[in-house]
Amino acid sequence: MRLGTPAVFALALAAVPAYSAPPAAATDEATAAPWACRELGGMSCERELEEFLQTADLVAIEDIGDGITHPRRVTLRKDGREARAIFKTIDIESINIAYTNRFEPGFSDRYAYEVAAYRVDRLLGIGLVPVTVVREINGEIGSLQLWIDGATDMQDAVDRDLPVGDTELLLQRLMLMYVLDAMIYNIDRNYHNILVRPERDDLFLIDHSRSFRTTRKLPSLTEERPIPVPASVARSLRELDLEALSSQLDGLLRPQQIRAVDARRRLLVDELDRRRLLPAVG
Ligand SMILES: Nc1ncnc2c1ncn2[C@@H]1O[C@H](COP(=O)(O)OP(=O)(O)O)[C@@H](O)[C@H]1O
Ligand SMILES: [Mg+2]
Repeated sequence: MRLGTPAVFALALAAVPAYSAPPAAATDEATAAPWACRELGGMSCERELEEFLQTADLVAIEDIGDGITHPRRVTLRKDGREARAIFKTIDIESINIAYTNRFEPGFSDRYAYEVAAYRVDRLLGIGLVPVTVVREINGEIGSLQLWIDGATDMQDAVDRDLPVGDTELLLQRLMLMYVLDAMIYNIDRNYHNILVRPERDDLFLIDHSRSFRTTRKLPSLTEERPIPVPASVARSLRELDLEALSSQLDGLLRPQQIRAVDARRRLLVDELDRRRLLPAVG
């Protein structure tokens, strides 16, 4: 599936009745409050979780036998706490279409983009990407992202016909997913890169190592019933600038890529304003 994820939206839409009135703006509930903080027994905030991922001792590392970038799953322990994480070391720039499978100049697939996507997510206050840091393990450098226990991917949820749970919340989050994918220009969103825990109304966005194209355009928003983004995200989207982006993304992205993120941010503000999907800052 390509950009715009129309099939995901169509899937979600099929599950809800048609509305006559325009939907209200998403509530802050859609921006998953630091879910990670409620979990993992007492790690009280995301900074703490970032530090855990950066400094905890390695207990085990295993192939997960899944994924074309051959990520591995590690188990970490510190101060009696244990957690798992996914370690990705891919760092490729290629024009080999045998690898890329598409006619794309300047194809790249990099672990650094996983961390950059997490930072853009948090800069906007979206909160759907699991905590991700850069970490060296056994002499290899890569991205380390908290492993979501008990999750399944959207494809599996569809195949097994699992109940959606709170459909409104799902639609709100799919809108936030559009915002994030537009900002990071992700060419690889598909059903396998959305994790869900339907019984808890949890949704997580993973696998952003093929993002940050320098395209200065937006993926199309094909949603028939798009939901205005939450006011807090709208504010961040309007107020973010190149300086703030650079302070978080320098070293992970090339300057040209960072400028492209900011260019798409401005396009996104204009487009969402035009469609009345971006609440004004009060
Ligand atoms: N943070 C995570 N929590 C739980 N499972 C994950 C997480 N990240 C990835 N996975 C699982 O590992 C698989 C491969 O990871 P992914 O990042 O998609 O690699 P690839 O780039 O090779 O597709 C995913 O499809 C998913 O099943
Ligand atoms: Mg994947």
